[in-house]
Amino acid sequence: MYNRHSSCLFIILLIIFHVSQAPTLALKVSFCWNFRVHIINNLSHDNLDIHCHSCEDDLGQHMLGKNDDFTFKFGQHIVFVTHFWCEMKYGDYHSKAITVYTDDFGDKYCCLTKKCFWSVRDDAFYFSNNNRSWVKWYDWS
Ligand SMILES: *[C@@H]1O[C@H](CO)[C@@H](O)[C@H](O)[C@H]1NC(C)=O
Ligand SMILES: *[C@@H]1O[C@H](CO)[C@@H](O)[C@H](O)[C@H]1NC(C)=O
Repeated sequence: MYNRHSSCLFIILLIIFHVSQAPTLALKVSFCWNFRVHIINNLSHDNLDIHCHSCEDDLGQHMLGKNDDFTFKFGQHIVFVTHFWCEMKYGDYHSKAITVYTDDFGDKYCCLTKKCFWSVRDDAFYFSNNNRSWVKWYDWS
């Protein structure tokens, strides 16, 4: 089972490490504002049990039916690290926590379209920034 608190602790340690490495405190400014993350249940038969978090936010547990789209929006943010991850489950044997957003990931892949799409399928998790061309990103196992 994925441990939420150890992950947050890890991020805090990372921040402390970075700060202690730098002579002055530097804020990371992301220029990629107001964009949206979509997570789509593209499983062929099953409902998808989904629970997304950051260290500060808990978006709650949701059950997505076939082809349902769970979406959330980021506002303007100036932060050290924004990390969103989602625990996903279907059937008795498939369960995984995946990172759906970090600032670096957003800047690199989602900034242009201001959208990040995750399509959850039987075999794997696929990513797209335009809802058309998909790349296999994470396996279930
Ligand atoms: C995934 O679900 C969307 C609806 O949100 C649907 O339009 C699309 O065709 C589905 N894609 C696949 C590969 O099943
Ligand atoms: C993504 O594309 C599907 C068609 O493949 C469409 O049904 C869905 O509304 C689109 N979603 C968004 C948020 O553009």
